[in-house]
Amino acid sequence: MSFIDYRETIKEGDTAIVFLGHESMFPVKVQHGGKTQTKYGVIRHSTDLIGKRYGSKVTCSKGGWVYILHPTPELWTLNLPHRTQILYSTDISLITMMLELKPGSVVCESGTGSGSLSHAIIRTIAPTGHLYTVEFHQQRAEKAIEEFEEHKVGHLVTVKNQDVCKNGFGITHLADAVFLDIPSPWEAIGHAKSALKREGGRICSFSPCIEQVQRTCLALEEHGFAECNTLEILLRVYNVRTISLPLPDLGKGTGGNARGESDQGSPSDQGASSAGLQQGNAQFKSGVPPREMVGHTGYLTFATKSLF
Ligand SMILES: C[S@@+](CC[C@H](N)C(=O)[O-])C[C@H]1O[C@@H](n2cnc3c(N)ncnc32)[C@H](O)[C@@H]1O
Repeated sequence: MSFIDYRETIKEGDTAIVFLGHESMFPVKVQHGGKTQTKYGVIRHSTDLIGKRYGSKVTCSKGGWVYILHPTPELWTLNLPHRTQILYSTDISLITMMLELKPGSVVCESGTGSGSLSHAIIRTIAPTGHLYTVEFHQQRAEKAIEEFEEHKVGHLVTVKNQDVCKNGFGITHLADAVFLDIPSPWEAIGHAKSALKREGGRICSFSPCIEQVQRTCLALEEHGFAECNTLEILLRVYNVRTISLPLPDLGKGTGGNARGESDQGSPSDQGASSAGLQQGNAQFKSGVPPREMVGHTGYLTFATKSLF
């Protein structure tokens, strides 16, 4: 298993996702002799996981079952241990596209935070690209290095424990793209410019507040960035439900005038007909949005460093 390629079978040392349902899953480090508790009972790694195919249905000790899934950056984002606020896949998908990331891209990022975005970037730029990620909080930087090694993507990423606003990204004219998720991104724009290739590249800054966006846009302009554009992306999900609606009482027969039809029938006919219609329901499947949806996460400001 690795976060950048797919393997059929579960092996010792893998990070697998135990899937109990869409709202209930967690990661597990697979180890010989290891045991994992679920509400359906124990999973024994040596017998229930190692050697089994990813996607298998595993029966737990109390008779209930779970699925064991191959990890992906999207599943990791939903299951990772939070050390900070993180970016979710809706924002990440727009960032990936607008930064034009692809296999071979060289990317700078700060801060690393919990590594949610980092895993997605690494998957996109593998096998020949590289991520330079900067995190000034020492424990977070160390934990990120540990996780990248554990997920077998350490060779694709360099973690630097420094202040990006003071010391930059540690590379010069090498990056195709720069991403910022820090409280004062405007202080890092100059460093971003020198990290980007001479021939140019893309930059994105994520900020929750519009005042941060304003200062970042001014800094981008001062440093000669072009095509400055601020976007927000909102996701609306739908649940598929069977809807049951009562049919209107239109009187006897179909499409008739209620008063006219009932006038022609006997009193007993009228009673049966209207009772039948009142009890009638129309059933159909429909996509229904939940009452609440995820609102604002942050503004995404994109710009281009161009030759001219
Ligand atoms: C919101 S978190 C980033 C989350 C990350 N994008 C993710 O998806 O997991 C912001 C991180 O930036 C770090 N940070 C803030 N200012 C920084 C700076 N000037 N230099 C380096 N890291 C910084 C913080 O320590 C924090 O870990």
